[in-house]
Amino acid sequence: MNRELVIVIDFGGQYNQLVARRVRECNVYCEIYSYKTDIEKIKDMNPKGIILTGGPNSCYEADSPTYTKELFELGIPVLGLCYGAQLMQHILGGKVGKAPVREYGKTETFVSTKSKLFENVEENTIVWMSHFDYIAKAAPGFEVTAYTKDCPVATAEDITRNLYAIQFHPEVLHTIRGKEILSNFVYNICHCSGDWKMDSFVENSIRTIREKVGDGKVLCALSGGVDSSVAAVLLAKAVGKQLTCVFVDHGLLRKNEGDEVEAVFGPNGQYDLNFIRVNAQDRYYKKLAGVTEPEKKRKIIGEEFIRVFEEEAKKIGAVDYLVQGTIYPDVVESGLGGESAVIKSHHNVGGLPEYVDFKEIIEPLRDLFKDEVRKAGLELGIPEYLVFRQPFPGPGLGIRIIGEVTAEKVRIVQDADAIYREEIANAGLDREINQYFAALTNMRSVGVMGDERTYDYAVALRAVKTIDFMTAESAEIPYEVLNKVMNRIINEVKGVNRVFYDLTSKPPGTIEFE
Ligand code: XMP
Repeated sequence: MNRELVIVIDFGGQYNQLVARRVRECNVYCEIYSYKTDIEKIKDMNPKGIILTGGPNSCYEADSPTYTKELFELGIPVLGLCYGAQLMQHILGGKVGKAPVREYGKTETFVSTKSKLFENVEENTIVWMSHFDYIAKAAPGFEVTAYTKDCPVATAEDITRNLYAIQFHPEVLHTIRGKEILSNFVYNICHCSGDWKMDSFVENSIRTIREKVGDGKVLCALSGGVDSSVAAVLLAKAVGKQLTCVFVDHGLLRKNEGDEVEAVFGPNGQYDLNFIRVNAQDRYYKKLAGVTEPEKKRKIIGEEFIRVFEEEAKKIGAVDYLVQGTIYPDVVESGLGGESAVIKSHHNVGGLPEYVDFKEIIEPLRDLFKDEVRKAGLELGIPEYLVFRQPFPGPGLGIRIIGEVTAEKVRIVQDADAIYREEIANAGLDREINQYFAALTNMRSVGVMGDERTYDYAVALRAVKTIDFMTAESAEIPYEVLNKVMNRIINEVKGVNRVFYDLTSKPPGTIEFE
């Protein structure tokens, strides 16, 4: 596909995916590459602009990440952010050193509104700073276009060579005009036209899938999560009944979730595809009986999924394509894209089935960030409650029940979780909290209900705010909301007599409760 491209060169900073996301929010397609990527490869991609990210190192030290000077001589606009800005200045003859005053957090900055980078930005604006090194002197040919109290070169530019250096982080929301600054870079400086839009992505994908698949057969494991749902609908729109979706209900889904998935994708739903629901609840509960160790539970659930899926696939026979809901962060985090390769410690439902007879994998969402997957989902007419569904782990409630998993415990956690979700939505907090759910502790204790002594389970409520799910903080839920949830759970869910709110952040906790 011939679309315009901006490249992010990753020097290992924490906001690297965020930079690419912000560029894409400007309707410009953007990909992340490690600083180890050869310049010839970058040239071949013919980008409209290049952005160098932040990073944890000092650019003047010998073994710090760097890049060939040639990058700045290609005639392609380059924007350096934080470490990227310092590196640009260092390579081109400026002076970078330890800052006498380290800046961290929201910082007042004075900008030259004459710069193309600062169109629609006030002279006096707030930016997000996070640095211990600073640009003491801009490189020859550069003009300083912004400063702060402690930072003489907050930004610098050389308009003849189209090079721009920004010490702060425009990609972070705390930089009030960050979005405008990045938009100014891609439009005023790189002259992008803004051809990356979800409606055309959907249209183009349907066309290319149709051409690729021809009259072939396609198989998709549908989990009911956002990614696999959007992938399935794209395929359904492209090849209709040539697609078969297999949905395994392992009995560890949230309350009514199996039926909800069936209502959308099943024979009475809105899409033209073959849908197979496998009700494997009992099979899973049998396998999980007596197992208390969390990793063992995960393994059993993952392996059982593969067995069930293989059995179904055998019934269907050979297919040409297998659909996977891989998205762009998976690509970056598995080390193929950026520098900050974090190998995921958990996989969805245990990896690829080994014995499914297929020729090729199709990954229609491989280029998309999560928010783009959601936009594509809405574009495709998938119901909002499904599109905005919060992350739900492959092993499901199996890893939200401490100790042995039983049908009875699943019922308790499903009911408690449904109440919790309903009240969070009633309080208007559902889009604010990134993930929230009820879990079941393995603790039973004495209580009193009416005049009777009880000896029942304690439910734990979890709610976190996070950007990347690698670190998280517990959300501050108003006491009245928690109190209402507690009351309803105790009154409505049989077998529970205590409710706890889990305050732990990650680290040291994890988001899940296993
Ligand atoms: P933890 O518990 O590791 O979770 O802090 C981080 C994020 O990952 C999700 N998670 C999983 N997602 N399969 C998944 O698809 C899994 O096995 C799995 N385990 C955890 C978790 O819900 C949170 O969003």
